[in-house]
Amino acid sequence: VTIPGLCIGAASDVPVYRQIVDGIRAALLDGRLKPGERLPATRDLARQLGVNRNTVVAAYDALAAEGLVASHTGRGTFAVSPTDPTAGSDVPALLPGDAWLTSFSRAVEGPGVGGLLSVYRVAMSSDGISFAGSYPAAELMPVEPFRQALDAVLRRGGAEILSYGPTSGYLSLRDAIAEDMRRKGSRAAAEGILITNGSQQAVELVFRTLLDRGDPVVVEEPTYTGALSALSSLGARLVGVPVDEEGIRPDLLAVALARHRPRVLYVQPTFHNPTTRVMGEARRLEVLSLASRFGCALVEDDWASDLRLDGASLPTLHALDAGRRVIYLSTFSKKLMPGIRVGWVAAPPAVLERLIALKQIADHGSSPLLQAGLHEFLAGGGLDEHLRRVLPAYRERRDAMLDAMRRHFREGVAWTKPEGGLFVWVTLPPGIDSTDLSVAARDRQVLVSRGELFHFDGSGSDALRLTYASVRPAQIETGIAILGELVRERSAARAGASARRVDEAVPIL
Ligand SMILES: Cc1ncc(COP(=O)(O)O)c(C=O)c1O
Repeated sequence: VTIPGLCIGAASDVPVYRQIVDGIRAALLDGRLKPGERLPATRDLARQLGVNRNTVVAAYDALAAEGLVASHTGRGTFAVSPTDPTAGSDVPALLPGDAWLTSFSRAVEGPGVGGLLSVYRVAMSSDGISFAGSYPAAELMPVEPFRQALDAVLRRGGAEILSYGPTSGYLSLRDAIAEDMRRKGSRAAAEGILITNGSQQAVELVFRTLLDRGDPVVVEEPTYTGALSALSSLGARLVGVPVDEEGIRPDLLAVALARHRPRVLYVQPTFHNPTTRVMGEARRLEVLSLASRFGCALVEDDWASDLRLDGASLPTLHALDAGRRVIYLSTFSKKLMPGIRVGWVAAPPAVLERLIALKQIADHGSSPLLQAGLHEFLAGGGLDEHLRRVLPAYRERRDAMLDAMRRHFREGVAWTKPEGGLFVWVTLPPGIDSTDLSVAARDRQVLVSRGELFHFDGSGSDALRLTYASVRPAQIETGIAILGELVRERSAARAGASARRVDEAVPIL
C-alpha cells in the first residue's frame, strides 16, 4: 500500500512528522486517498519514505487527533471522510483554498499540545486489554448510591440546582472539601476553594492565570501529559528537572530555579504521574524552602493521595506551608468517578479571584446538579464506603501486576512498586524503544502509555506506564505475558548485535 505523491523534503524546516501529516491531509483533499482506504502500515510507510517508524506513528496519531484517520486494532489505519458533520451530507469540509481549515492558532499547533488527546484516545479505545489510561475501575463505580443521591437532591432542590450556580462552586461541596483538607492538616475554608471541571481544568486555569507566552515554568521530568499539553498550548517555556526515588531532585531544582527564575513550579509530591514516586517529608520541606527562596508559586497537584495502598500518609505541601505559596489542586476523578468531572483548586485570595474570572469565561461554572449530587453522596459517607471497596481491589490488582512482571519481565526490565495510585512505571532495557513496543503491543490487543508522552523533549523512549487499577487480574496476567514476550523478542534480536544484557529483573523500590 502506498499514498501516491507523498514525499518528504529532507531540507525542509517543517518537522518530518508534520510533512507526513500535511501530505496525507492534502492527499485526502484532492482525492488521492479515498475515505475508507487503508493507509500503509507504519513500518512500510517508514521504509518507503526513509524515515524512522516512530515519526510515522506520531504522524498517524496527529491525523487521528484531527479526525482524518481512524486506527482499528489489528486491522490498521484507515482514511476517514473529511466531511462537515453539520452539513448532513458528503460535502467535503476541506476544500482547496480553505486555508483557515489547515492553519490554526499557536494555542493548538505546538508540538506537545496533542499529547493529552493521544493518551485519552488510546485509553478510551475498548479494543483489548488497556493499561493505557490512568483510570479507576469502571465496574466498581458506586452507580446506585450516586443515583439515589442525585434523586434526593432533585427532589429537594430541583429548580435551584438546575439553574446557573455560583461560579466558584456549590457552597456545601466547597465546605465539605475544606473540612477534609483541614482534617489533613491544611488551613482551608470554603471561600478559598474553586470547583473546576476535573482537576485538568484547575491545571489549565492556574497556568493561564500565572503565565504569559514565553514565561519559564519548572516541571518534574517526566510529568503528567495534561500539564505538558496545557503549558505547550499557553506557549510557556518548559524547564524539566529530573526525579529520583523521592521525586524532584532538590540539587538540580536549585540550579533550575536560579538559572531560569520561573514564575511557577509544578509538582506532584504523592504518587507522581507517571513515575509513582512519593516525596518524603524532608524533601517536601526542601522543595518548599527552594520555592520560597526563589519567589515562585508552587503548584501542588495532589491527584491521588487518597488512593494509598500501603504505608503512612504524608502532609501535603499545602498543609506544610499553611497555603501561603502553594496552589493546591485535587480531584474526585480517581478516588471516585471521573464522569462527574469535579476537581478543585485551593489558592490564596488574589489568585483565586483571577481563577474565578477565567472559570467564568471558560464555562460559567461547573454543573450545580452534579456538585449537589456529589455533596449528598459525600454527606452520606459514600466516599469512605467506596474507598473501603476499591482499595483492596486496587491492592490485589497492583500485586497481580507486580507478580506477573516478576514472572514475565526479564532482560533488565525495571519497574516501580507503587505505594498507591493507579499504575506502575516500567523502564525498558537499553535499545528497546517504547513506541515500537507499544505499536507491537497494540497489534496484539494490549494498550500501553509510552514514555515519550510524559516528556516535552522527545526523551522517555525507554519507559512505559502501565495501569493496573482498571484491569482485572486475569487480564493483567495475559497483558503482561504478551509485553514480556515482546520485550524478550526484541532483546534476543539485539543480543546478536552485541547489546548490553542484564539478566536479572530489577524492581526499583
Ligand atoms: C496528575 C494528574 N493531574 C490531573 C489529572 C486530571 O484529572 P481530572 O481532570 O479527571 O481531575 C490527572 C488525570 O489523569 C492526573 O493524572
